[in-house]
Amino acid sequence: MQITIALTKGRILKETLPLLAAAGLEPAEDIFSSRKLIFDTNREGVRLLLLRGSDVPTYVQHGAADLGVAGKDTLLEHRTDGIYEPLDLGIARCRLMTAGIRGAELPRGRIKVATKFVESARRYYAARGRQADIIKLYGAMELAPLMGLADEIVDIVDTGNTLKANGLEARDTIAQISSRLIVNKASMKMKYEPIRALVDRLAEAVGTEPVA
Ligand code: PRP
Repeated sequence: MQITIALTKGRILKETLPLLAAAGLEPAEDIFSSRKLIFDTNREGVRLLLLRGSDVPTYVQHGAADLGVAGKDTLLEHRTDGIYEPLDLGIARCRLMTAGIRGAELPRGRIKVATKFVESARRYYAARGRQADIIKLYGAMELAPLMGLADEIVDIVDTGNTLKANGLEARDTIAQISSRLIVNKASMKMKYEPIRALVDRLAEAVGTEPVA
């Protein structure tokens, strides 16, 4: 039986691989020095895919991968039908926050908000009864308030250094973010034994209980 696990390149991968290793799963070759996108592992029939973070939920939802590791920030932007989220891996921790120019008051009435996290932002302002025009950006959100493109941004904050370096201040926390293990619901049914075993071993490696 083939089990496919979708992972994300970069910093998260460096934190994910030790957890997989603790659960008994290791890539068959050095994942960091290769340009390949599919890797065999030390376990027969288990392979790893390397994707853009925002594509991991898509692969898992459609069953093109059975499992995946995705940031909660990404999951909050994505449809979750067809996906279980059994485990908080506790890695790549940060916060999804609103931020704006230090000391600047928000204008009355409609505000402009620049973000990559359109769905989270829309829900956040709607829940507060705040009329907000959401402007989708793909990076360097910090520039938007400085250039008058937006009154506020919604972005990931870790150390807060990026905001500080650009004269911005963090305001409200919208969500605590960390990487989550996600599982395709149909795979969970059809490949129950190996997936259950892997989820349980990962839960043990993380030191927590799976929720599904
Ligand atoms: C995130 C975020 C900020 C930065 C915050 O970007 O968009 O720019 O990290 O970190 P800090 O609070 O420690 O300064 P990331 O490096 O994840 O890359 P991205 O531009 O692809 O989102």
